[in-house]
Amino acid sequence: MPRALGIETSCDETSASVVDGVGDDVRLRSLVILSQDVHAIFGGVVPEIASRAHVTSIAAVTRRALEEADSTLDNVELIGVTYAPGLIGALLVGVGFAKSLAWTLGVPLVAVHHMEGHLFAASLEQADAVPPFTALLVSGGHTLLLDVPAWGTYRQLGATRDDAAGEAFDKVAKLLGLPYPGGRPLEQLAAGGDPARFQFPRPMLDRARDTADPAYYDLSFSGLKTAVLHAIRGSDDLDRDRAAIARGFQDAVIETLVEKTYRAAMAHRRTRIVLGGGVACNRTLFEAMKARGVESGTEVFAASPRLSTDNAAMIARVALYRHERGEHAGLDLTAHASRPIPGLV
Ligand code: KG4
Ligand code: ZN
Repeated sequence: MPRALGIETSCDETSASVVDGVGDDVRLRSLVILSQDVHAIFGGVVPEIASRAHVTSIAAVTRRALEEADSTLDNVELIGVTYAPGLIGALLVGVGFAKSLAWTLGVPLVAVHHMEGHLFAASLEQADAVPPFTALLVSGGHTLLLDVPAWGTYRQLGATRDDAAGEAFDKVAKLLGLPYPGGRPLEQLAAGGDPARFQFPRPMLDRARDTADPAYYDLSFSGLKTAVLHAIRGSDDLDRDRAAIARGFQDAVIETLVEKTYRAAMAHRRTRIVLGGGVACNRTLFEAMKARGVESGTEVFAASPRLSTDNAAMIARVALYRHERGEHAGLDLTAHASRPIPGLV
């Protein structure tokens, strides 16, 4: 049974993981994620600090992942690494490290697209989170709505026109004085907020009514962020209003994400929806997505938080898939800050 070692260093998590299996019968053997908390004091990821932290920790993180899997480098059959998209300096650390391992061990190297990793994450925990499905990938850097008829075949239906969903959470959280990354604290603050006090615009919800218009599926969060900023500036008692503003913002984001995702699912007659990326940790989003599907019998899947945010298990999982198809990278592999997900049709 092929055993893959995955390496992920695209942003501020240094991660390594061992998975093995064949086809969709894949088991997670270990996962180590070292989060770089240092960025919190800067209110965002500082790229050079991230790269340096990856260089410092990558070998120790990998050793720990091998130990936890009761594995050694000798029984790893392939190395998968995130090569795009992400912070270039951060990616280069993982790519350089993975390449050296693959070369010395004489095993295949697989170049993994980070967003394809997020697509596979839920399937590591839930056997039914497999194609065909509609996918909503919502992270700090990306917001993608995809139709997935099969692994490796991705129809991009929509994307954000400005900020990513997670980025919008982080920016609004900052405006509300919450720590970085702001998604989780904002969700907690919103839980105690009055939903009726602030009604923010639902971005791009009514502009198009027809599947042929790109605005039908596309998203946008910058106008909403500005509306929140005006509400904050206009408040005469921010301590009183903070939770209600957080609630109004989150409700607007969630209503939009749910509506656009179901537009995609209905247009392609999918009865499964898979959520991926850090924002998929948001329970309020997950519950709203599920509630909307009760009548149509649509199942909604999201991985647990450690597999929804950046991790190497999803990278190792994609590496097994690409390896089965004989798709290996050469030792001239390099990193790319931005690159479309492979398999777009
Ligand atoms: O996928 P991820 O770990 O990193 C990227 O590839 O960007 O996503 C991180 C993002 C951050 O913007 C963070 O605020 C957001 O996921 N996030 C959340 C929640 N937990 C994490 N957003 C909303 N609600 C949450 N509970
Ligand atoms: Zn990510």
